[in-house]
Amino acid sequence: MGFKALRVYDTPEVKQVIETFEENALPQGDVIIKVHYSSINYKDALSATGNKGVTRQYPHTPGIDASGVVTASTSDQWQVGDRVIVTGYDLGMNTHGGFSEYIRVPAEWVVKCPETLTLREAMCYGTAGFTAALSVSKITENVSTEAGKVLVTGATGGVGSIAVALLSQLGYTVVAATGKPEYAKHLTDLGASEIIHRDVTNDTSGKAMLKGQYAAIIDTVGGNILSTAIKMLNYGGHVTSCGNVASPEFASSVFPFILRGVTLHGIDSVACPMLKRMAIWSKIASDWKVDALIQSVEEIDLEEVPNVITQLIDGTHKGRTIVKI
Ligand SMILES: NC(=O)c1ccc[n+]([C@@H]2O[C@H](COP(=O)([O-])OP(=O)(O)OC[C@H]3O[C@@H](n4cnc5c(N)ncnc54)[C@H](OP(=O)(O)O)[C@@H]3O)[C@@H](O)[C@H]2O)c1
Repeated sequence: MGFKALRVYDTPEVKQVIETFEENALPQGDVIIKVHYSSINYKDALSATGNKGVTRQYPHTPGIDASGVVTASTSDQWQVGDRVIVTGYDLGMNTHGGFSEYIRVPAEWVVKCPETLTLREAMCYGTAGFTAALSVSKITENVSTEAGKVLVTGATGGVGSIAVALLSQLGYTVVAATGKPEYAKHLTDLGASEIIHRDVTNDTSGKAMLKGQYAAIIDTVGGNILSTAIKMLNYGGHVTSCGNVASPEFASSVFPFILRGVTLHGIDSVACPMLKRMAIWSKIASDWKVDALIQSVEEIDLEEVPNVITQLIDGTHKGRTIVKI
């Protein structure tokens, strides 16, 4: 079984090349999957550029997402021909990932692709969409559509753009904060009612609280934008935190928590328990399937991955890019 994969080397310099491998190059595992689609996330960009916080050892094949068909299995759980999705766990971090024609993974990392979702659609969501859906589920559990506006930060990013589309489809009034106002139409097409510049959500006044403006906030960037978001919540508001592109650090006083009763929810897609994972994919395959998102996705092949990696690192990338393997 000769197969192609994108390989990242870190010496003598970081470079990404497409090479051919044999089955024995795959890691140990229970299930071999012929990958049909992968997708590109910020974490892939870090792995593909030699970031040791994500990938300890190179050479390495990134790709934290994959959808495809089982071609071999030593587990009773999975049979040849099953349509499956793998996101998170160690895929693409320190385990040979989805920028490859084949992956081999432990049986417990594998999720059955719901009947009503194509393998392509699954990767239009991928880890970004799964994370957006986890974040949105915290909002739907706690905040009604009548409670007020919902702010999404990093709105043109993978997680942000899907969160905008999903919230809007579910009936929320969505305000999109972005550093790329030139993509306002894209955000409006996804369902945002209002676009604001990210500087507006980057308060430097030193005040402990600002005027409450939002019933909920999905923050994908961290840093001072998350600090500001917490200060801008209405009484009883909810904010989710999943990302750190602005900074992994954020500062807050206790006042929004003890005077406005706001709640901060941490979002983790990597080790999310399997039952919750399946429930979220099932929602994505039914009433949380967003046509506007699926139509907005850019599709590329393996050879074009390095260009998109550069855009993600520069912060100039927009929306979702899937990779047809
Ligand atoms: N917790 C989890 O399980 C989980 C899962 C997936 C992703 N994540 C994290 O979530 C974050 C977003 O992931 P993604 O895949 O959506 O990334 P992405 O596609 O690169 O989007 C990030 C967006 O953040 C904004 N941004 C970039 N640099 C910024 C800066 N210096 N300050 C403020 N905003 C900035 C940009 O949007 P605008 O130009 O529109 O502002 C950019 O498009 C990342 O930190 C990622 O690691 C976490």
